[in-house]
Amino acid sequence: MELTAEGKAALDKILKLAEGNNLNIKGGKVRRTSSRFCLGVEHGDYNGTELFGVGTDRFIWMAYKPNGTNKIRLFSGNFPDDRVVEFKMGKVPSPKSTEVAETWGRFPYGVDFILRREGFELTQGIDGVLYGNIPGGGMSRSASLSLNLILSLFDANGIEIENKIQIVDLAQAVENDYIGSPCGKLDQTMILFAREGMGTYYDPKDRSIEYLPIGAGAADIRIVVLDTGTDRPGLEKSTYAIRRAECEKLVSLAQKAGFDISCLADIKQEATYDKVMAQFSNSHSDLCDRLKYIYGAQKRFYEMLEAWKAGDVETVGKIFRQDGIGLRDDYKISGPELETMCDIVRTVPGVLGERMLGGGDKGASGALVKAESVDAIKQAVESGYPRSRPDFADKYAVHVCKVVDGVRVYEGLL
Ligand code: GLA
Repeated sequence: MELTAEGKAALDKILKLAEGNNLNIKGGKVRRTSSRFCLGVEHGDYNGTELFGVGTDRFIWMAYKPNGTNKIRLFSGNFPDDRVVEFKMGKVPSPKSTEVAETWGRFPYGVDFILRREGFELTQGIDGVLYGNIPGGGMSRSASLSLNLILSLFDANGIEIENKIQIVDLAQAVENDYIGSPCGKLDQTMILFAREGMGTYYDPKDRSIEYLPIGAGAADIRIVVLDTGTDRPGLEKSTYAIRRAECEKLVSLAQKAGFDISCLADIKQEATYDKVMAQFSNSHSDLCDRLKYIYGAQKRFYEMLEAWKAGDVETVGKIFRQDGIGLRDDYKISGPELETMCDIVRTVPGVLGERMLGGGDKGASGALVKAESVDAIKQAVESGYPRSRPDFADKYAVHVCKVVDGVRVYEGLL
């Protein structure tokens, strides 16, 4: 398998960094993990909805080789100030400790901690160098990194996992239990299973995966990620954690009132929805707004899947936009810069839909755009965004993305 031009540039960087930091990766492998773009239901994973998304071509590349010791030695080209992160396997700081809060090293520490906790025997250490071009906040950089580290350590230790979904759980546990981020399973699922040119459908009931190509005759569209240049703190420090708690609270109130549900996605029938709304809209109007978004987005989800299968990208875009308005006004998880991006691109002909992406507050928005309108969207952002958000005039970026495989391994390059 050939590396793309960007992959080659990343590899050049990695090779230099390996040499400069005395890390021996000669003869090793390169594992490339993607980012992801969710088409629905955003914020549905921890509410129990079905999910649909694609892998996108912003990546983390990790070149590594077993080093014959029980030490892990890693350098990240994105966090050079952290120098080489080096530790004896099994000897990592305790979960969520302040000692590791500021270093990217918390990810490899967390992977070692979780794999060990789950009973995997790791004896073989690795030398490795990483480099990535996934912007923070919205494209799942942390899930991509966790998956890359887990898969690479499994490979170095000859561990094979039959049921791939277990790897999703392990990567989520790294973030939930070691890092302290309350993320769901959307990101890991959409990256681990992503296939070039395909949409990935996930059903939480039986945890199955199905691949859906976009229907024949669909207009040529691009996925555009609009990085606002803002820094998004960890999900634990953001509105994300509050929204999760609110959704859980409404579930528990409804259960106490006798509704037979275990998550908000279970409120699917109009009659049930109307009853819950009638019962709680006076006392808990905020919580009802959260439900309003999830209920509507879940309904639209099925319509979106049908449109995708039929190649009706206009409808896919329209639903993406409606979801965005629900996320902004009812779920209230968007942020001012994210909405500035949406407002700018919404004015461009050929933009089918736009909304905030991922965890919320800060980070990136996204748009579904007809191929011929990509230049127009870039121009609109270039003139509109810095005028509106001068503080981020030097930091924002527009990424035009392809739909790619989530995980690829290259041999014979090092
Ligand atoms: C973040 C989380 C995911 C998911 C999305 C919102 O990316 O990590 O689990 O909840 O936000 O859809």
